[in-house]
Amino acid sequence: MTNKLFGASLIGCAFLIFFSCTKEVIDISTPDTSAISFCDTVTYGTHITDFLNTHCTTCHVAGGIGPGDFTNYSEIKSELDQGDLEEKVFDPNTCSPMPPCGGLTTEEKDRLQCWIDAGGPNN
Ligand code: HEC
Repeated sequence: MTNKLFGASLIGCAFLIFFSCTKEVIDISTPDTSAISFCDTVTYGTHITDFLNTHCTTCHVAGGIGPGDFTNYSEIKSELDQGDLEEKVFDPNTCSPMPPCGGLTTEEKDRLQCWIDAGGPNN
């Protein structure tokens, strides 16, 4: 009895694997957005540079009043690695929040959090 159940679940798994593979192949031409998580759509090249250009690089650019040049990937990545980026944008107890005047949308913050959680890829 247990063996039959085990056998049945093995076959079930095989089917699942088979169908999930088939589905991925289909996904290339007709993306099934429900299978793609919000974070999977976030890229540095599109969303994070957009975000930085909208909210940060007025100050964080060569000659600007903020330290560093956030048009440069390695400089924003270094702020991320030091923990400063996350602290200044997300920590409610930071003594100097960024951007100083606020105004980030929930979506912008969610995207940034996705990118931070992914380790700040240059994608
Ligand atoms: C109006 C100008 C201005 C804007 C806009 C601004 N910053 Fe800043 N930022 C500063 C200044 C000035 C400092 C240095 C003083 C301080 O830490 O508060 C700073 C410091 C920082 C630091 C610490 C850097 C370090 O090396 O100590 C980080 C990280 C940072 N900002 C991130 C951001 C991010 C991310 C944005 C956009 C979401 C942003 N800032 C927008 C002016 C700005």
